[in-house]
Amino acid sequence: MKKTLAKNYLVIIFTLFIGLLLVSTSCKQVPDEFAASDKYRLVWNSNPETSVTVGWDQLQTSEVEVFFGLQDWGRKYWKYDKSIKPSAGNQKYGMNTQFASLDDLQSGMNYYFVIKDDFGVSERYWFKTAPSEPEAFTFIAGGDTKSSGLPLEAGRATSKMVSKLRPLFVIFNGDFNSGSGLDSLSWQRWLKDWQQLTFTEDGRIIPILPIHGNHENGDKGNLNYIFNSPYHNNDSSSIYYSTTIGGNLVHLIALNSEIETGGAQKDWLEEDLKKNNDCTFKIAGYHKPFRPHYSGKRENDLLYSQWVWLFDQYGLDISIDADSHIHKITYPVRPDTLSVDADMGFVRDDEKGTMYIGEGSWGASPRKTDDDKSWTLASGSFNQVKWIHVFPDESETPAYLEIFTVKTASYDADGNQTLYVEDVEALNEENLFDIPENITLFEDDIFGKSVRYPFYLNNK
Ligand SMILES: [Fe+2]
Repeated sequence: MKKTLAKNYLVIIFTLFIGLLLVSTSCKQVPDEFAASDKYRLVWNSNPETSVTVGWDQLQTSEVEVFFGLQDWGRKYWKYDKSIKPSAGNQKYGMNTQFASLDDLQSGMNYYFVIKDDFGVSERYWFKTAPSEPEAFTFIAGGDTKSSGLPLEAGRATSKMVSKLRPLFVIFNGDFNSGSGLDSLSWQRWLKDWQQLTFTEDGRIIPILPIHGNHENGDKGNLNYIFNSPYHNNDSSSIYYSTTIGGNLVHLIALNSEIETGGAQKDWLEEDLKKNNDCTFKIAGYHKPFRPHYSGKRENDLLYSQWVWLFDQYGLDISIDADSHIHKITYPVRPDTLSVDADMGFVRDDEKGTMYIGEGSWGASPRKTDDDKSWTLASGSFNQVKWIHVFPDESETPAYLEIFTVKTASYDADGNQTLYVEDVEALNEENLFDIPENITLFEDDIFGKSVRYPFYLNNK
């Protein structure tokens, strides 16, 4: 009898315990408080088909974790099936920067995440992993932002354009701030703007693939501190790297024109090009152009001699540079120092040449384009980025790139600034290849609003 009573009590207690547990779980509330962090950023540092780096500024010391998964649970952090703690960080520029590497992700998927610390939970953000098979996508390339005045505002307008166009990623070709990259407030402002302006209204974060520019030269480890960019030979100033997306559709090489461009970097570049020779499109980004289209910038003969022959030998398709604060796009060209037709070490070669596009002006004041070459296709003095649509091979058409130049700001003779972003229709996930209403695209007399690569597709 006593035994039966005891057994019954145990059953009742157990049932109550389970009941309470269920009630407490179902009543778990999304916290009102937000995490003590900001300046969020996503970076492509290794293999974007399966990983992404999340970076942020941890404003108050705390245990912190990123909760993430394929299902959108809003700020209900406990519902996400994966979590990871930061694995790197630093205390540079008045920030407690933390980095967490989200790995083993599925390619071509949408991932949702929150950052939770002892103070609360961040907004819910989301991102896309790169596809692992050839698939159409768009990306934006540009560089050169400034830290004050009208150039700061032009740069902000361009960053806003990123959120409107929703590219898969951004290549930022260096020169993030005025000065030499040592000013805390400038870095903090840049990162705050990046969050406020490039994140989409529905919380999508566009990953950045950063490149080192001369305005980062005050400390050549800057990209490692801000973006956890990888470096070579235990030397944080040796930042250059590459990645491939879409299976073998696009190989992206982030070079560094501000350190030794021969030696180890050149050897690495050759190995990298050799290893990825079968990729459909090989694209290199770096800061300083070989042949600036503004006369106030000197020719970069050494850089040319270090890299151009490798670009030619391994069939680099597109080179993206910055630094001069102008728009330029060239015909496909290959290096030639001997032929009578050669102009500044290049001849046009529509079949095998590399197309050089650039040259900066995300935000920095546009300069004159007073140094065009015989192989310049177009140039212009305004703020702009390149918006590149990538299409894989289909039965009727070969794989190709369609390159648009998106104008974001310009100045009249009196220095009055006009911005071209506010009225631009924002794209959504269903129409990423559409040309949005009210966008201002550079239009060339011959080629119109875009240039295609391979070049014969232009029929010009
Ligand atoms: Fe520069």
